[in-house]
Amino acid sequence: RLLIIDFGSQVTQLIARRLRELNVYCEIHPYQNVDAAFLAAFAPRAVIFSGGPASVIDEGSPRPPREVYDLGVPILGICYGQQVMMHDLGGTVERGHGTAEFGRAFVQPKGTLGLLEGWFKADKEQVWMSHGDHVSAIAPGFEVFGTSPNAPFAITADTARNFFAVQFHPEVHHTPNGARLYENFVALAGFSGDWTMGAYREQAIAAIKEQVGDSPVICALSGGVDSSVAAALLHEAIGDQLTCVFVDHGLLRKDEAAEVVGMFRDHMNLKVIHADEVDLFLGKLEGVSDPETKRKIIGGLFIDVFQKYANEIEGAEFLAQGTLYPDVIESVSFSGGPSVTIKSHHNVGGLPEKMGLKLVEPLRELFKDEVRALGRELGLPASFIGRHPFPGPGLAIRCPGEITRPKLEILREADAVYIDQIRRHGLYDEIWQAFVAILPVRTVGVMGDGRTYDYACALRAVTSVDGMTADYYPFSHEFLGETATRIINEVPGINRVTYDITSKPPGTIEWE
Ligand code: XMP
Repeated sequence: RLLIIDFGSQVTQLIARRLRELNVYCEIHPYQNVDAAFLAAFAPRAVIFSGGPASVIDEGSPRPPREVYDLGVPILGICYGQQVMMHDLGGTVERGHGTAEFGRAFVQPKGTLGLLEGWFKADKEQVWMSHGDHVSAIAPGFEVFGTSPNAPFAITADTARNFFAVQFHPEVHHTPNGARLYENFVALAGFSGDWTMGAYREQAIAAIKEQVGDSPVICALSGGVDSSVAAALLHEAIGDQLTCVFVDHGLLRKDEAAEVVGMFRDHMNLKVIHADEVDLFLGKLEGVSDPETKRKIIGGLFIDVFQKYANEIEGAEFLAQGTLYPDVIESVSFSGGPSVTIKSHHNVGGLPEKMGLKLVEPLRELFKDEVRALGRELGLPASFIGRHPFPGPGLAIRCPGEITRPKLEILREADAVYIDQIRRHGLYDEIWQAFVAILPVRTVGVMGDGRTYDYACALRAVTSVDGMTADYYPFSHEFLGETATRIINEVPGINRVTYDITSKPPGTIEWE
């Protein structure tokens, strides 16, 4: 196994991801936890030093234990990791003085090095730099294998010891061929690349068991991919120690509550409490049309309701959440930051402290596509794993204006027809998210020989990679025409259908 010593870079998890893509097992450990005894017990086959925000020039800045250099295994130092390695082994690191580099740079090769095999497609390669300090003299035994205009020591290596030090970040997207470096590094360290999601499952299960012991665990199950995979994994680890609470706020899609509870309780034998709180939620939302007020009401009630049900579970000590790695990065880099709230997102944040619970987050290291792979591994049906995201406040934010039961009913029916159309045309998996919003206007129409005065609705379908930016999906006119006809014919209460062609930005995906 490979050890990543984390010096606090924002992108350390991306290194782990690149390695998982190569089917190599790795663990990330913060530098504070890595000492000589740890190294001896871990017995890594290779070590990577991550980047980090500190400066090796400062006293007390993060260091690996000296013993790491005596293990006789390959070491790759990245950015701050490069500087640490140079500094520890007898080179010199200096402060900026106009040599700081942030962003795109181009590295030119010098000589040949196994680590770089197949990397340089042309005479230079794009890389991503992000450093204030720089190496001004390399350590004895090292040679230069790549330079950039601002980094004469962009790539250095001590080939006798298999120590490599690079100034840039090969793990990020903006170093387009960076994965090749990792591939060469692990090959050189003798990894065979036989580690799989199946192995991850085993490790995650062992880790959950160790963390929670015999204590009861509760989990808010929404039916979304993340909470579903987390629940299935926990169930496999601790069986009936896990109780899931499914909060039905009356803002779910057609048949959704029955489907989710049916699958987890009846099909997979999980303990699921179906908290039917429809009257409570819809009652409190009566007469409310301001989007943020709706979100706050729903978020607040959700916490109250969850707490009420959780309190009934004797001795619960842990709360399980399907937090993914991107959520972890977001909450770290934006907490207290200057970004404005566009929409207050609804989740169970704040719950653990309020209830005195400890968190179990078995998906914290994974990205969305890896969670899907794990879900498949756990045997969840493809229909669950491939589902479009659904927001916590549910249909409330697809019903601009006041929320009423009849409007929700119309919305559910229209949405079901629309999604059925998309599936029939084989488009579901091409689309990031598709749904209907019911508009707070009624318009005049004519059906048969009669006048109608019914609601208008908007269809939404977007492509996106992460929900942060999005573009509308280019349906054919035939598809749109056929879908509009079906909705108007099959859904009483709607007599006009529009298609929302706004991208994000400037729009958002949801209507509120
Ligand atoms: P927007 O509308 O902000 O949505 O462009 C981006 C993505 O986030 C989802 N979304 C939410 N998810 N709780 C959630 O769990 C929320 O409160 C929430 N609001 C929006 C939205 O469905 C889209 O995928």
